[in-house]
Amino acid sequence: MPDINRQVILSQKPQGKLTSASFTLAEGPIPSPGEGEVLVKARFVSLDAANRAWMQGVTYRSALETDAVMQGGALAEVVASRAEGLAPGDIVSAETGWQDYAVLPGRHVTKLPKLEPLTHLLSVYGVTGLTAYFGLLRIGDPQPGETVVVSAAAGAVGSLAGQIAKLKGARVIGVAGGPEKCAWIKDELGFDEAIDYKAGDVRRAMRALCPNGVNVYFDNVGGDVFEAALFNMANHGRIVCCGAVSQYDDVPPAHGPRGVPGLIVTKRLKVQGFVVMDFYEGPQGRDFALSELQSWVASGKLKVQEDVIDGLENLPSALIGLLAGENRGKRMVRV
Ligand SMILES: NC(=O)c1ccc[n+]([C@@H]2O[C@H](COP(=O)([O-])OP(=O)(O)OC[C@H]3O[C@@H](n4cnc5c(N)ncnc54)[C@H](OP(=O)(O)O)[C@@H]3O)[C@@H](O)[C@H]2O)c1
Repeated sequence: MPDINRQVILSQKPQGKLTSASFTLAEGPIPSPGEGEVLVKARFVSLDAANRAWMQGVTYRSALETDAVMQGGALAEVVASRAEGLAPGDIVSAETGWQDYAVLPGRHVTKLPKLEPLTHLLSVYGVTGLTAYFGLLRIGDPQPGETVVVSAAAGAVGSLAGQIAKLKGARVIGVAGGPEKCAWIKDELGFDEAIDYKAGDVRRAMRALCPNGVNVYFDNVGGDVFEAALFNMANHGRIVCCGAVSQYDDVPPAHGPRGVPGLIVTKRLKVQGFVVMDFYEGPQGRDFALSELQSWVASGKLKVQEDVIDGLENLPSALIGLLAGENRGKRMVRV
């Protein structure tokens, strides 16, 4: 075992777009676990659009501090344990932050099954898959024959949400950046149609593809695409507010989308935000969702796309690239 702990420090918060100037690399000693704690080694660090949102201030978690290890979740391996029920070699989900090693209270890590490929524990069987599953099914509740629109459709959450909507018998339109992503979600993932939001008037393109209106809009991006969807919603449509990635990596926009709240009223829309953990408990909760996701993956009905980058030192550029739309599917860094 090496005797240094490489760390990526959030040295300053970005004023506009995130650049590598916000991060520095540091080295520290490997910490030792105290009573009730575990020492874990990060294996795959999760890259999430939300990492950037945390830099803006308080979200569903407290704001990030500067001059501290950049926060983030990872798949990690227990190296040493003084916590009951955890032993060296166990694979856990843990908030390690962007570093090789972390000491955490045993009760803050979750032991996971050792399935292959391990990376699926971060993608389809992690927060990503559960977000797509719960957001779409518990809030959007698409019915067979309904029209579902998903934004950031070639991304981690969106690529799964769109496929799950297809599984439920909906007609699915994805919104993504660029012709390659649009072709991929149709040809490989089975979306019915795709809209390249960088190519022109999204509102008009959506109207042409959804002549009877949009029944469910799964919103990962906010901003202009949200507005385009709002104007195209069918009466009694449902908007699943999952995230707003178009607004994370910049100064806050001067004004919000038009049509709020007027169109919400006249079209009798249900607009609901959620945080994935809201749905974990109960008989239809996390375990139930995971068993459904597993059966869809095993039967080939749900395709899982992962985008794995090597090297802890590449975490900053991997996040900057994610926000610029480099990724297809779930991005993570192998440490
Ligand atoms: N509510 C929850 O509990 C929960 C949990 C997890 C994630 N989320 C949310 O889910 C969304 C997706 O997150 P993710 O981690 O899976 O990331 P992701 O979709 O894999 O990656 C982000 C994607 O956003 C797209 N994008 C970037 N800037 C954009 C813009 N200005 N307009 C439209 N699209 C833009 C890019 O694709 P293009 O090339 O298509 O632009 C990029 O690939 C985020 O909003 C995140 O906050 C919510």
